[in-house]
Amino acid sequence: MEILQTSAELQAQTEHWRKTGRRIGLVPTMGALHEGHLQLVEAAARENDVVVTSIFVNPTQFNNPEDFRLYPRLPEADAALLGPAGCTTLFMPDVAQLYPAPSVLRFDFGTLERVMEGIHRPGHFSGVATVVSKLFHVSRPHRAYFGQKDLQQVAIIRQLVADLSFDLELVVFPTVREADGLAMSSRNRRLTPAGRATAPVLYQALQLAQALVEQQVPPARVREAVQQRLAQEPTITLEYFEVADAGTLQPLDGPEWPAGRPVALCLAAHLDGVRLIDNIVLG
Ligand code: PAJ
Repeated sequence: MEILQTSAELQAQTEHWRKTGRRIGLVPTMGALHEGHLQLVEAAARENDVVVTSIFVNPTQFNNPEDFRLYPRLPEADAALLGPAGCTTLFMPDVAQLYPAPSVLRFDFGTLERVMEGIHRPGHFSGVATVVSKLFHVSRPHRAYFGQKDLQQVAIIRQLVADLSFDLELVVFPTVREADGLAMSSRNRRLTPAGRATAPVLYQALQLAQALVEQQVPPARVREAVQQRLAQEPTITLEYFEVADAGTLQPLDGPEWPAGRPVALCLAAHLDGVRLIDNIVLG
């Protein structure tokens, strides 16, 4: 596996691949890789001739400087995992490489970002869209791989691809979980042992919500049930739990369930000073 640090080198490489008919898969990440990331890389390796994985802790998507500072950075360990997973080229630029000058462009995704992560992390999706656009430009992928774990991010990137006519296929990969149900996340490393033991309650709360939705319990009562369940855990602070249309991500509030539309159950919570998100999509 080759490691590249400049956009110019990666662009030269991907241009050559395109000219020689190679199919390029891109897996954008912020590193501190876990099995969830590696399964994206493995899928990309199965479905393309070459795989570019990027590792870049993107400053413009962190609305909390402390979260940016504490974000785990493990470049050597990450590089050792990527080769065996099927990665051809690891792109690891520094901040000056992707942002030679502060970017002034701001994205506004309308109603898609006036909910959930968009409300609680102002500016987050503008930063994600900026960096993902840069990565699309320098790696010129035929397919780009993203995890359902970040459901709203997938919706934003789908919109970005449509609005800016990026000529690529988005591949959405299911959430990879620990044996006890906790969604894998680079942030899980920052949990204390006690916090790690409590964290699966988040997925259990989503499963409780799923069971209620399947019984057609109205959205307002599903919300109450999840809030009550998590209130039993003194170390968990729920930031939001939403019952939403899985396509538009708009909250479902009516007493009736809209027929035939997939439903997304999404939450964010704080535990041990770590912010965790998870979701389930039904139907
Ligand atoms: P990061 O959190 O490192 O995630 C990189 C990719 O891995 C994302 O598409 C994310 O949804 C996916 N992923 C993370 N945990 C997963 C899990 N448990 N199962 C399946 N997929 C999982 O998301 C980002 O980085 C950044 O916002 C990025 C897109 C790289 C832009 O900076």
